[in-house]
Amino acid sequence: MEISLKELNEEFGQKKRPLILDVRNQEAVKKSNLTDYFDLPFKNIPFMTMLSENDSDDTDAVLKEYVQKHLKKTLSSQEPVVVVCAKGRSSKMVTDALIQSGVKAKSLEGGMKAWGKFYESKVVSDQKNLKIIQVIRPARGCLGYLLSSEKEAVIIDPAHHLEVYRKLLSDNNLKLKCVLDTHAHADHISGGKALADEYKALYFLHPYDGIHPMDMLPAVFDYEFMKGEKTLKFGNAEIRAIHVPGHTLGNMAYLVNEEFLFTGDSIFISSIARPDLGGKGDTWAPLHYRSLKKLLELKDSTKILPAHFSGIQEADEKGVFVGTLRAIKSSNGDLKETEKSEEAFVDFILASLPDFPKEYIEIKRVNLGLSKPDEEKAEELEQGKNLCALVK
Ligand SMILES: [Fe+2]
Repeated sequence: MEISLKELNEEFGQKKRPLILDVRNQEAVKKSNLTDYFDLPFKNIPFMTMLSENDSDDTDAVLKEYVQKHLKKTLSSQEPVVVVCAKGRSSKMVTDALIQSGVKAKSLEGGMKAWGKFYESKVVSDQKNLKIIQVIRPARGCLGYLLSSEKEAVIIDPAHHLEVYRKLLSDNNLKLKCVLDTHAHADHISGGKALADEYKALYFLHPYDGIHPMDMLPAVFDYEFMKGEKTLKFGNAEIRAIHVPGHTLGNMAYLVNEEFLFTGDSIFISSIARPDLGGKGDTWAPLHYRSLKKLLELKDSTKILPAHFSGIQEADEKGVFVGTLRAIKSSNGDLKETEKSEEAFVDFILASLPDFPKEYIEIKRVNLGLSKPDEEKAEELEQGKNLCALVK
């Protein structure tokens, strides 16, 4: 029996807690697993460990024997069980063995490979002049957005699997006017330029982010230059650009109708962005401090819509990752560090940096067109939890 990606994601949203039995090898599990963003009971028993129990060629019989001997008792008390592997094949065999032993189990359809490409969209707001849809990528903690007004659309921070956006545009009969990347992303491959080209829309990036911060090589494609205080109109809505250097030098936030702030990688719901992914943490951290201060001066009722989430607990009752600036100011401990002096903030942030995945340097190259990985290599680069925030 299988569970679809959508069903599994819905179960997380309802805060049900299935036990995850991951049958991949330990190395793969360490890179990324379903507990990256979801607080769930978790067990890792590699498929090969189960098979090594007995040298018989009858895989089904060996698995059944393993389940009876080692798993039946413990898993029966922790149902339901969702079995996960890389592509959904070995997990299916283990699930069959569990079901035959009376354990309520389901196999994750398509495995972790499919989970990495799964997106869910949720309506944030549906006003007469502005509709906002949040596109959630639960495997990577990434958030993109589709904004529309009077049948004109703007997309912010799309990841490189474009089908979700194509469908939203056609289902809502929208004309794509422009695509905005809040910054040159390091943790995931952007779909911004490709999406804009496909729909003959404009692609905006701040020119400081059009140069790789380590290679010092410029993007190989043309793009529209974004800058602070620029305004863009679509339908009856208006976007005001705010330059917030820190996470990157060309980092932007977008304030829409003076009500919704798309913060990209600056303010997250329960953390803040890190300033060192360009390799210049000590010189960029003071810029980050001043940028955060600038955003904190906006109205307390401003609704914050970030480019990442750190865990399902940050979602509201509808499963949307949003919070008012007022609420985030009072609950976000990392953001509170800006109440200290610039010097103290810089000390704090430089002492709080998570690991710097080496893949991030290459991902930035990809996002500037300097490197063109095939799909398999792209998947490999993006593996693992995004580490754009101070919170791991
Ligand atoms: Fe990021």
